Amino acid sequence: MKVLVTGGAGYIGSHTALELLHAGHEVVVIDNLCNSSLESLKRVELLTNKTITFYQVDIRDGDEISNVLAQHPDINATIHFAALKAVGESTQIPLKYYQNNVYGTLTLLEALQKAKITNFVFSSSATVYGEEAPVPYVETLKTGIPSSAYGKSKLMIEQILSDLVKSDPSFKVACLRYFNPIGAHESGMIGEDPNGIPNNLMPFVAQVAVGKRDKLSIFGNDYPTNDGTCERDYLHVVDLAHGHVKALEWLEKQSNGICEAFNLGTGNPLSVLEIVNEFSKVTNVNIPYEYAPQREGDLPAFWANADKAKVELNWTADKSLEDMMKDTWHWQSSNPQGYGK
Ligand code: NAD
Ligand code: UFG
Repeated sequence: MKVLVTGGAGYIGSHTALELLHAGHEVVVIDNLCNSSLESLKRVELLTNKTITFYQVDIRDGDEISNVLAQHPDINATIHFAALKAVGESTQIPLKYYQNNVYGTLTLLEALQKAKITNFVFSSSATVYGEEAPVPYVETLKTGIPSSAYGKSKLMIEQILSDLVKSDPSFKVACLRYFNPIGAHESGMIGEDPNGIPNNLMPFVAQVAVGKRDKLSIFGNDYPTNDGTCERDYLHVVDLAHGHVKALEWLEKQSNGICEAFNLGTGNPLSVLEIVNEFSKVTNVNIPYEYAPQREGDLPAFWANADKAKVELNWTADKSLEDMMKDTWHWQSSNPQGYGK
């Protein structure tokens, strides 16, 4: 297969590009590099000894996307990662998020529809279950109302995709609802490289470990959980990348007019403290931390029921927590400045 990967230079996109190449597929990436560096894809090429076709294109530019598609009439499917993803910023600058994520996706879909490229995998998020859903989250639950504009942009796109499929049954869509991807490729060559102060737990822990930050603030120790800190379903980014390859294979086998959501997680909740302790145990690096007030919008605990992905996609998250910690540290300690972007 030849696969168009939007946002392919980013954290999850670069790991997925690598797994696509390993699986024998060709990869065409479009990315505007607003939150990534081309270095990630150069390293994927080194690791696989294969080439990636790259275009610095913004998904809000329909003409540019159509130009790329015209040069690759043999593209069979799209994996759509490109989005802004900072939850806090999205609450402060919601229009930027709706413009980039929702308008960008609409523009991309129009170009794909014109070019008749209708197999589509979308990067969605567990956040679409909203704040009231019972845990573990299962796909049969109704979606809720995400607290952030970022989360709402993901839900809106799922709804747009569902309407699109109803109106144009040549489209086949898998919405992959990720839980908390962490870790890096075992080579230590590619990984997560956030701009500025990391918003997410794992890159923050890794930057404390490497001496870039003094200590971790744990947001809240008074949640109704075993140790009082929030619980999440952390999965290895390489497992998540495999999930995309499986979803593409699944789409190939479907008849037209399908739009299905899949949870991608391990099904095991872990607390912030458990993550910090496991990181120290695996790496032998102490992580100084302090308790800080709860972060606005954080839910106490959520995790996946990932049975549907197991049964229908033949996918499970196989890597261990130890792998997640070891690989995070391998990446961060070998690349203290990330890609140096
Ligand atoms: P990332 O920021 O590393 O990757 C996103 C990529 O999209 C970047 O390379 C960025 O430059 C590109 N991009 C953004 N806007 C663009 C535009 N208008 N045109 C072209 N390229 C653009 O983030 P990631 O963690 O790899 O996330 C990938 C996808 O997964 C996103 O859609 C994100 O919302 C979703 N997701 C991520 C997580 C997570 O915890 N990382 C959880 C759930 C869902
Ligand atoms: N946390 C800290 N200190 C930090 C950073 C995070 O204690 O410096 C805590 C948070 O309070 C939370 C947990 O670590 O309890 C995980 O936080 P992350 O920011 O890493 O992840 P979230 O669960 O908040 O959100 C992530 C993605 C969202 C996505 C969501 C569900 O960032 O995009 O998972 O998939 F919507």
